[in-house]
Amino acid sequence: MNNVLVFLFSLLIIQSSRILAKECHKEERDALLSFKAGISDPSNLLSSWHGDDCCNWWGVLCDNSTGYVVHLDLGNQYNSYWSVELSNSISSPYAFTGEINQSLLGLKHLTYIDLSLNDFSTTTIPEFIGSFENLQYLNLSYSSFTGEIPPQLGNLSKLFYLDLSNSKFTGKIPPELGNISNLIFLNLGRSYGSDVEDHVVSFILFSLKQCNNYAT
Ligand SMILES: *[C@@H]1O[C@H](CO)[C@@H](O)[C@H](O)[C@H]1NC(C)=O
Ligand SMILES: *[C@@H]1O[C@H](CO)[C@@H](O)[C@H](O)[C@H]1NC(C)=O
Ligand SMILES: *[C@@H]1O[C@H](CO)[C@@H](O)[C@H](O)[C@H]1NC(C)=O
Ligand SMILES: *[C@@H]1O[C@H](CO)[C@@H](O)[C@H](O)[C@H]1NC(C)=O
Ligand SMILES: *[C@@H]1O[C@H](CO)[C@@H](O)[C@H](O)[C@H]1NC(C)=O
Repeated sequence: MNNVLVFLFSLLIIQSSRILAKECHKEERDALLSFKAGISDPSNLLSSWHGDDCCNWWGVLCDNSTGYVVHLDLGNQYNSYWSVELSNSISSPYAFTGEINQSLLGLKHLTYIDLSLNDFSTTTIPEFIGSFENLQYLNLSYSSFTGEIPPQLGNLSKLFYLDLSNSKFTGKIPPELGNISNLIFLNLGRSYGSDVEDHVVSFILFSLKQCNNYAT
């Protein structure tokens, strides 16, 4: 009799732990698959990206209690072995290339995006990145993004860390970045080629704006 009870009790525990460990949401899984379809992944780092439970995929972290994707950790550490320091242009057998599909916006609970050390040299930073309302960490360093930094990044009001270093931007640092009042870390080092002085001035203006925001 006792054994039967213990058995039933164990079943109950196993069942409830299944319910507690939330699986990936289908619409988020589809968003990730669209992202995967838009990039080229020469060394097949995303080979685990199949099946139903996207929370078990490489580089994807879900919130335990809700099952929503919160981290996208696709910084390509393999490229740091590919003499990144020698040149800004990363041409490596490991880098993701291609375009970042807007489908990613389906991941509404993202707090952390790391796409560093990949090769997005054919594209600018997508404006839609400014729409991730919950984002706290954005690392696009060493990713060869070109063109202008979109002013939309200034909409990321919860951002603490913004690393855009080692890119190839043109134009000016958007003053809208000064709207991110939570920012405690900003790196634009080696992002603008030789156009340094201009950007030092922009940065000082940016800092002043921050101070003004605190003062008023
Ligand atoms: C994004 O992904 C969707 C679905 O896979 C596709 O229809 C669309 O063309 C993609 N957009 C871009 C810009 O690649
Ligand atoms: C989520 O799961 C991980 C690994 O099992 C654990 O370390 C972490 O504390 C959990 N977080 C919460 C909020 O339960
Ligand atoms: C961003 O990524 C690069 C390369 O992976 C890393 O060296 C750097 O420390 C990261 N920045 C932050 C703020 O974590
Ligand atoms: C984001 O920022 C841009 C430019 O700074 C602005 O025009 C746009 O309305 C903002 N979008 C949202 C959703 O706040
Ligand atoms: C963001 O910054 C721009 C330029 O510095 C400013 O004109 C705009 O009003 C700011 N937007 C918000 C919502 O603070």
